[in-house]
Parts: sequence; C-alpha cells; structure tokens
Amino acid sequence: MEEKIIILDFGSQTTQLIGRRIRELNVYCEIVPYNKFPHGDGSVKGVILSGSPFSVYDQEAFKVDLAGIRGKLPILGICYGAQFIAYTNGGSVEPAGSREYGRAKLGRFEHDNPLLKGVREHSQVWMSHGDTITAIPDNFRIIASTDEVAIAAYQVEGERVWGVQFHPEVYHSEDGTQMLRNFVVDICGCHQTWSSASFVDTTVAELKEQIGNDRVILGLSGGVDSSVAAVLLNRAIGKNLTCIFVDHGLLRKNEFHDVMHDYECLGLNVIGVDASEKFFKDLEGVSDPEQKRKIIGRDFVEVFNAEARKITDARWLAQGTIYPDRIESLNITGKVIKSHHNVGGLPKEMNLQLCEPLKWLFKDEVRRVGRELGIPEHLIGRHPFPGPGLAVRILGDITREKVRILQDADDIFIRGLRDWKVTDAEGNETSLYHQVWQAGVILLPVRSVGVMGDERTYEQAVALRAVTSTDAMTADWARLPYDFLAKVSNDIINKVKGVNRVAYDISSKPPSTIEWE
Ligand code: XMP
Repeated sequence: MEEKIIILDFGSQTTQLIGRRIRELNVYCEIVPYNKFPHGDGSVKGVILSGSPFSVYDQEAFKVDLAGIRGKLPILGICYGAQFIAYTNGGSVEPAGSREYGRAKLGRFEHDNPLLKGVREHSQVWMSHGDTITAIPDNFRIIASTDEVAIAAYQVEGERVWGVQFHPEVYHSEDGTQMLRNFVVDICGCHQTWSSASFVDTTVAELKEQIGNDRVILGLSGGVDSSVAAVLLNRAIGKNLTCIFVDHGLLRKNEFHDVMHDYECLGLNVIGVDASEKFFKDLEGVSDPEQKRKIIGRDFVEVFNAEARKITDARWLAQGTIYPDRIESLNITGKVIKSHHNVGGLPKEMNLQLCEPLKWLFKDEVRRVGRELGIPEHLIGRHPFPGPGLAVRILGDITREKVRILQDADDIFIRGLRDWKVTDAEGNETSLYHQVWQAGVILLPVRSVGVMGDERTYEQAVALRAVTSTDAMTADWARLPYDFLAKVSNDIINKVKGVNRVAYDISSKPPSTIEWE
C-alpha cells in the first residue's frame, strides 16, 4: 500500500502548496477537510494541520478532536494548526502586531531538534498570521524564535507533535523544504518513492486491472490534462480506447489539424468531429458572455454524446480531471466548494462508469507524467485555453470573419512569444512563451481611425493579454519587452486585414480576470 501524509485543511490559501511541496519530496499526500481524517487507513504515516483564515478563539473557527491521532501518528501544525494545538492544550493565542507579516529570520533554535535538522543559522522564514502564540502549556518546549516572535516553533515534550507559526511551504521560507523533509522522511518515515515513473507503472497496472477488456471513451480538448490521460490509458488498454476531439470552430488557427496530427503520432485512436457549422449557427447574434458559454456547453455535450453513442459497447468514460479540480476546498463559512467537472451530462442510457486516472495529480505532476510518457514538449508546455475558446475573446457577437481575424492576430502573437528567446534566472535559454502562464488576443467591438499609406482606415482594435500566474487564481500582467510588443503590434497591423490598432492589457487579477468574458 502506498504510504501517505494527510493534510487537514483548515481553509488556508497555502494548503495546496503544502501538498505540492510534499509531493516534490516524492512522498504521496492527500488534502482532506479538517474534519475528515481517514481513521483506520493504515497507510497514513503522519498528519499536517494547515493554516486558516480564522483565529482559534473565533466562535466559528474550525475545530477538530485530535485524540484519535495524537500518540499514534506524528503531527505538524502550521500557523493556525500550531496555534490550534497550543490553544486547545491550555496555551494563549492573541492578536499579533503587524510586524508578524512577511520575512523573518530564525534566531535561536534547537539545531538538533528532528524538525530543524539541517536548517541554517538565520534562515529566513515567512510569517503570515494575524495571531500569535503568547504562552505555551508547561509540557510544550520552544524550539525556535525570531526577533519578533518568541514562540516561532515548539515541540510537545516526549511526543511527536510540532507546531510552527511560519509557513515552511512558501517559497520565501528558505529552509522550509528541509523542515518538511525532516518531518515526512525522518519523523514520519516515508520512503520518497512517489515519482512520475512509479505513478505511470502503478497506474497502468491498475487501469488494466480495473478496465480489463472494456471499451473506454475519452473527450480530448487539445489541452495537457486530457492528452496525458489519453496517452496513459492508451498505454494500458491500447485500441480499446476511443478518443473524441470536437472542433467547435473556435480553436486557435490550425489548432484542430495540428493537434489531431500530434495525437495520431502518439498512436491514439481519435475521432475528430468538425461541428463548427452547428456552433456558429447556434451562436448567431448572441453577445451575452454567459449565454455564449451556455450555448457552447450545451452544443458540446450534444455533439460529444452523439459520437459517444456510436460506440455502443463502451463501458467507461475517461476524463482528464486533476487533483485541484477535486480538492474540497473550504470557504470561510466552512462550506465545501467543489470545483466543476470537465464534461457534463453523460448519455444516461449508456451507463458509463467514470475513469479519472489523473485525479490525484497536481498540474506540474501531470506535466512530468506526460514527459515520462514521451508526449512532445510543445503539447506538454501548452498554455491553458478556455473550453469556450475564442468565443470568450470576441466581445460581442461571433461570426466566422471575426474568428478569422482573431485567429490571425493570435497566431502572430503566440508565434512571436515562442520565437522570442530569453535567458532565465538559471542562465538557460527559454522563450517568452514559457515565461508567461497564458497569452492571447482579444477582439474588441470598437473601430478606430487610422492611416495606411495615403488612405484613411476605420478598422477594429485588438488587445493583447499575457499574464504570469501559478494557478490562474491570481495573475499579473506580464512585463513583456517593449521591443517585442512593438514588433507584434507592427506585424498584426501590417498582416491582419481588418485591424488597425493594438493595445496591451495591463490589468491584474483580481480585480480583473484573465479572460475578458
Ligand atoms: P479567468 O478569466 O476566470 O480565467 O481569470 C481563469 C482561467 O480559467 C480559464 N477559463 C476557462 N476554462 N472553461 C474553461 O475550460 C471556461 O469557461 C473558462 N473561462 C476561463 C482561463 O483561460 C484561465 O486560464
């Protein structure tokens, strides 16, 4: 049985980051709501309590009884987690001064404490808490302090229970990974065997076992997740996998053909469906963003299901759902918010069972698994692209001509980003494309006056959007070089008939969003 660490989620924004850091140590972990500890699961080797937006003394604060865990498994409380353990054992937690946000340096600390082994003198840690532990119970021992925070970390005497008020999981905590390693490897005894290669081997074996000789249908989108899921399944069951790739006519320029070609090279059995006629007809005259999404979603399900029904002996529907799509993250009210699933409304009469081979993976792990499976880099490294495609980047109603203009402008921008080589912080050559999270062009519903040669023009404007992000929850506009923007603007206006003005979107998310609709 795969050994694992359980992270109890008290609603902090960095809970997923704790999970990713532990996976990066090649240790498997799962994030569960604070009150859903899997009692009786013998594969659990240790428990981490996350941070929280609450104060431990708030009426509505999330509370958990650790009696069934304490003494049986090692426990590490992070921020709220540390405060919670201290507070519920008789310690004091009070509102902190503003100086407890941001960088701090570990001053005095127990170098030989198992949690702090290998941590460097004056190592920087990241503080982010509105409260601080002002007193610990008698049987707790301070093991680290900073200039401002006397009780930066503690251990319960004679027990394998620790608390840290800083966030070891964030990048700015210099030896944070070392501390997490100390906890999961040395203290909990995990073996660091979780890797993309081991994932591929075990998952292929499990899929063979689970699916046997059944036929499986999978919807491909051209994106990383569905592509990796398809190649993984292909390795397990080969020709029994049928993939369906629907072209709604709102993909990037040449994308349908290019991606179909890639899929064929990967040996996938893919049915490509050109349904653009239907989508354009149903979208005719529709300008409202939500209405557009609804129509596209509905048409997509219809087209997909019509194709799926032809595979009469199918028993499974596979999806590229990944872990962040499913984590039951908590909001401040304690309600669980479940993210959407990729495909809605399966044909009921087909009685398909759901197969989600990537459901335990984070995005970066999906990419690593994809590389392990030999998927080419240009597919693995693709930017995210919205399901409704260019429809949400054409403000106002959609016509084939507008899609053509946008595809041409977008193609110049994206190819430009790929071709513009830069050196990254480690001195490696990369491109602007790989330095941004996502980029695209938006066709604006305005026309403006210009001059070309001796002619007055009155044509459309486009906006370029390029953002940096780690998860699309927040994003900043990419500081693209002026020379690059000048070249792209020039190329678009000279080569794309119908466009005479280019703007660059300099809004961050929040308060704006990445897409314009
Ligand atoms: P926003 O615009 O909300 O976008 O900042 C965040 C991320 O989600 C993508 N996005 C979508 N993806 N269906 C999708 O599959 C959609 O309807 C959709 N809307 C936005 C967007 O491209 C960005 O990566």
